[in-house]
Amino acid sequence: MVEYSPCKRDVVSSILTEGSSGIIIMEEKMLERPLLKYHPDINSIDWRFLDKETYIEVENILTKGVKLFEPFLVDEFYPKEMFDELVSLCTSNDLTKLDYSHQMNKWEEGVQIPKKFFDYAEKRVRELLGIEDVIHAYHMYAHHQITSEGRVPKLGLHIDEAPGAYMVDLHIGGNRDWGFVAGYTNFICKPNQAIICQPQIDYHYRPSWASDNKEEYYQAFFMHMINKNHWTVPTEAKWGDRSKELEEKYEFGQAFRASDTFKNFNSQRLYIFRDLYVKENEKRNLPAIPWSEEPKGEDRFIHQRKGVKPAI
Ligand SMILES: [Fe+2]
Repeated sequence: MVEYSPCKRDVVSSILTEGSSGIIIMEEKMLERPLLKYHPDINSIDWRFLDKETYIEVENILTKGVKLFEPFLVDEFYPKEMFDELVSLCTSNDLTKLDYSHQMNKWEEGVQIPKKFFDYAEKRVRELLGIEDVIHAYHMYAHHQITSEGRVPKLGLHIDEAPGAYMVDLHIGGNRDWGFVAGYTNFICKPNQAIICQPQIDYHYRPSWASDNKEEYYQAFFMHMINKNHWTVPTEAKWGDRSKELEEKYEFGQAFRASDTFKNFNSQRLYIFRDLYVKENEKRNLPAIPWSEEPKGEDRFIHQRKGVKPAI
């Protein structure tokens, strides 16, 4: 597994050459900020959506206790027998009874899955990441195929706003390949291979479906995992050393995610990092980002439509 290192600049050495003690103090604080510190030129940032101090506080909430790493692929995520059982649980459902999302043009639903699959997945991810503090948060089975209405599967470039410090994207089956770019790697998976990534932190997308063959389909099973005391899980959380001011300043969980502070944070984060990501992505010749496939209008909000049929 590769450690997280999206920026080439050595922040510490750049600080030591700044000279002024005021700057050193400010930048030393910045070193505690796990995402912003990877920006190549922090002083050039235009804080047009959120002030810097609040941005840093939210970033701390988002990443507190989270292990950062580069996305990687795992072979044989489940023992064969377990994987076969999971495949049959996922694929034995009638698609017209599953929720259909217009955001990504896919059938998606949290199909009932026995607990043993999550227990095993938690154990596997803890071993792979070398940390104990990982629990299953939610899961989703996804079937991608052109619909009878001609909707074509897609996944535009984005970072998740929903909680999910860690994600297991397990390939279930299908009759075609479909890449998944997470960070700067294009993963093409075989069944029972899993991509482990950080959808709240890594930019991700799938290249254009690029086919009008109605028989083609692709199936995946996602498990989103979080730290036990994640900021979005207020019921179980014991905030530990989180400051009283922060507890008072924000409403955690759903309310926090719905707050203007969090929305502005996300706008500011896209503004700061998306162009940098795109430039680096192009330099590395990754599959083209499907700009025209970002969900627009009401498609962004339709996740639970029922009765949608595949074209065949
Ligand atoms: Fe995502």
